[in-house]
Amino acid sequence: MANGLDDVVAADTVLSDVDGVGGHLTIRGHSLAELAGRWRYAQVVRLLFDGFFDDLPGDAELEKAIGKARVEVFDRVKPLLAKLPRLDIYSGMRAGMAILPDGDGLADALRLIAAPAVLTAALLRLGQGETPITPDEKADHAGDMLRMLAGTASPALAKALDSYLVTVCDHGLNASTFATRVVASTQAGLTSAILAGLGALKGPLHGGAPGPVIEMLDAIEASGDATAWLSDEIAHGERIMGFGHRIYRVRDPRADALKAVVRQLGSCNETSSRLAFAEKVEQAALDVLRIAKPQRSIQTNVEFYTALLLEAVGFPKEAFSNVFAAGRAAGWIAHAREQQATGRLIRPQSRYVGPLPDLVA
Ligand code: CMC
Repeated sequence: MANGLDDVVAADTVLSDVDGVGGHLTIRGHSLAELAGRWRYAQVVRLLFDGFFDDLPGDAELEKAIGKARVEVFDRVKPLLAKLPRLDIYSGMRAGMAILPDGDGLADALRLIAAPAVLTAALLRLGQGETPITPDEKADHAGDMLRMLAGTASPALAKALDSYLVTVCDHGLNASTFATRVVASTQAGLTSAILAGLGALKGPLHGGAPGPVIEMLDAIEASGDATAWLSDEIAHGERIMGFGHRIYRVRDPRADALKAVVRQLGSCNETSSRLAFAEKVEQAALDVLRIAKPQRSIQTNVEFYTALLLEAVGFPKEAFSNVFAAGRAAGWIAHAREQQATGRLIRPQSRYVGPLPDLVA
């Protein structure tokens, strides 16, 4: 048995399908191309939640309910906020989310959608010595996340962030979604299940990659020679962040969806020159990887252009995984509900390969 559970089917799902050969992502019957840049995040939350909560309202009402949940979460975590900045921004968010009620209802789910946005903005501000900004329950989710961060949110940046949240809302049985489903299968509450997802997402082989992508771009810019820098990394056994995927053997379709968003933001000169530089680095990385790993098709994944997009909308690299969690929360919650509904505990077996006890005569 492969030790990464490669090719093992561990769940039936109606939520999303990743076609790693064709390079397609389907979310509840819609292609990523149909959703990204066209649907709002609240609509996609509704799409994913449909059938998993009895009292799910229509799109407009759900958007309002998410706004109310942001205010509620802010009030709940406010007494804790002063202590959380001592943690790194991801751990602070996780600690803040851990105090939310651990139920299974829509109100619990909406708090978990709201919390990454509220906590990330508040913790970033506190880290800079600024006062957290109270959520505006009437604003859209992405716009309010940026407003809580910077005091204002331009419609163009809010739309770009909204497209990002939609693009990463769900993605098959990735490591964090599997972790979420394992906990949900024990019939623990949604907060417990989502905390498991948060733990798995953090690692650099999963949702922790986009921060290091920025570090790589900066290091390559300083070195002045992308091919030499990348080849040296490979020679030292390092992985190139933002490239490779367990399922995709072709380019990750989310990479192009996000690149299109960054290109649209490119009217600002800084973003367009950063994009042009990143495209050169991407090509150099693909060439280096093709030569170094001819046995494996290693292509650009979602994290490469995630890094550019989140940098362009104003997040520091330390908070990129938090924003990933803000988008993926929708998928995690839907998967948790889907798993709970099966009523089946996930409990695989291990094969014991350790020493045997001495046989007593
Ligand atoms: N850079 C250099 N070599 C790589 C990379 C990479 N980015 N990705 C895979 N390889 C090599 C790996 O070293 C191995 O080579 P060898 O056979 O010589 O030992 C070969 O390709 C197969 O690697 P693997 O570990 O079996 O592949 P995997 O299916 O476990 O890899 C991955 C998936 C995402 C862990 C890996 O590609 C990686 O570490 N990428 C860099 C981190 C990254 O960008 N993570 C974000 C993933 S996308 C977000 C998400 O959907 O979660």
